[in-house]
Amino acid sequence: MPPPIDFDRIPRDQLPWLLRKMPKAELHIHIEGTLEPELIFTLAQRNGVNLAYPGVEALREAYAFTNLQSFLDIYYAGTSVLRQEQDFCDMAWDYLEKAAADHVVRAEIFFDPQTHTERGVSIGTVIRGLRRACQRANSELGVSADLILCFLRHLSEDAAFETLGQALPYREHIIGVGLDSSEIGHPPEKFARVYARCRELGLNAVAHAGEEGPPAYISGALDMLEVQRIDHGVRSADDPELLQRLAASRLPLTVCPLSNVKLRVCRTLAEHPLPALLSAGLCATVNSDDPAYFGGYINDNFLALFEALPQWGAREAWQLASNSFEASFVPPAQKAIWQAELDRLFAAAVV
Ligand code: HPA
Ligand code: ZN
Repeated sequence: MPPPIDFDRIPRDQLPWLLRKMPKAELHIHIEGTLEPELIFTLAQRNGVNLAYPGVEALREAYAFTNLQSFLDIYYAGTSVLRQEQDFCDMAWDYLEKAAADHVVRAEIFFDPQTHTERGVSIGTVIRGLRRACQRANSELGVSADLILCFLRHLSEDAAFETLGQALPYREHIIGVGLDSSEIGHPPEKFARVYARCRELGLNAVAHAGEEGPPAYISGALDMLEVQRIDHGVRSADDPELLQRLAASRLPLTVCPLSNVKLRVCRTLAEHPLPALLSAGLCATVNSDDPAYFGGYINDNFLALFEALPQWGAREAWQLASNSFEASFVPPAQKAIWQAELDRLFAAAVV
């Protein structure tokens, strides 16, 4: 239930400040997608890796994507510089500092172990490095951060089982599993058995679905993988029955507006389905996906979105932040603390 805040009496010129300042959770962030060109070059030098680009600017210029696959090709190439535990720690720390500056109080961070184990980097090196940054963020930045292991859906279910096995010694450092990479041609049912095993292990389950793939992949992720959240899920807007199901269950969608425009899932932010999803009563959230590649971190997403949607005001800002806590994998008592902080900030902005 919304608190008794008179949103209509919050001046619109307060909105950018509120969007920046409001506490929020980021639930759809690929840590490898936070690798900025500057850090790619620093790590290349540290590890003696030769890059195909002469400098930071040339690399940035190569970020001209036309769809998900053209992005993934360059995203996986960028990860070649990650070799040692410290590299993973530095990458995650850089993100967590930016997240703290954006008033992210909770981050549920995706990582792609298969991208690294395929190159001979052990899963322990990856998880120990990322985990160290998360722990430091908790103590030094006041950001609560946890890890979600993603399986690459263009690889086989056997490969996913093998990765799960490699991760088991680090089970306590992982809060859940996800599914990412090339969507079309790799439906969720391909991973039904590995997700069943993950649920037995007590892991939370999410999956990318309905980014480029059809609404049937969203239903498939719900029915065959029993996920607790859908990542992206914007194609649900094409299916009224599915919309109704998602609204009734309040099963969250982690939406990434700038990513969707960059990868041509939608033409412009003004035409983004998020307003329709929110109006239909879905628990939709705003996230950055791969901010080093898509032109912005979480607050850049919020600011660009509200700039493009003049019909949106303080009510929608509050709702999106509130949804992010509702959708997060933390105990209800912790959600209530952040929700109360959010309510106080908006109540104080009423004139
Ligand atoms: N979709 C699928 N796979 C990904 C993405 C995405 O948006 N980002 C990183 N891997
Ligand atoms: Zn994603």
